[in-house]
Amino acid sequence: MSTLTIKVWDPLVRIFHWSLVAGFFVAYLTEDDFMTLHVWAGYLVGGLVAFRIVWGFIGSKHARFSDFVRPPGEVIAYLKAELAGRARRYLGHNPAGGAMVVALLLSLVLTVVTGLIIYGGDECAGPLASYLCGTGEAFDELGEEVHEFFANLTLLLVVLHVVGVVLSSRLHGENLVHAMLTGRKPANTGETKGDDV
Ligand code: HEM
Repeated sequence: MSTLTIKVWDPLVRIFHWSLVAGFFVAYLTEDDFMTLHVWAGYLVGGLVAFRIVWGFIGSKHARFSDFVRPPGEVIAYLKAELAGRARRYLGHNPAGGAMVVALLLSLVLTVVTGLIIYGGDECAGPLASYLCGTGEAFDELGEEVHEFFANLTLLLVVLHVVGVVLSSRLHGENLVHAMLTGRKPANTGETKGDDV
């Protein structure tokens, strides 16, 4: 195999990704027990996701939504090909990976927003406090249920995301985790899509 590599993930995407991993797990594991840490980790996740949405429009080639968001039919066709072991290699996110990025970002936005809502209503703190402080117990309890639901949905998506990363790495004989650390992927064969060398 060629040792020639191509730059795929810019430094901001990589810093975003690994900071998000840390922020998400700290927030998930601290929950009610370490409220201050939980809230700061939540703010970090919110800020990172806001950055990534903007970067999805103005960032480097493979960071842009236009590079990896595909119609549902293409995502399903890709998943079928992947399960049959004959999916083509993509330099950026493949169609299923792209759909997962959108699902993760959406689920994270909903987790952060519901967190801010209960923080404002229940604790009378955070940016929404002046609107929601004192909304009552029923509101707070419902808010907590919804916040927990989206946090758990995000965790489920993360598990599927990591399974997808492992499957895709094995199928194409490359290390996608290493690529998300270094930003580079092996330049490869004619079957690679998005190859711009
Ligand atoms: C230790 C666990 C994780 C590993 C090994 C991992 C690995 C990866 C890899 C290899 C990619 C690039 C996939 C590709 O080449 O197409 C990626 C992308 C991504 N991952 Fe993870 N991931 C992990 C945890 C998470 C978590 C916890 C989240 C969110 C809560 C997350 C969200 C994302 C997002 C949003 C992207 C897209 C990156 C971008 O385009 O900016 N990942 N991950």
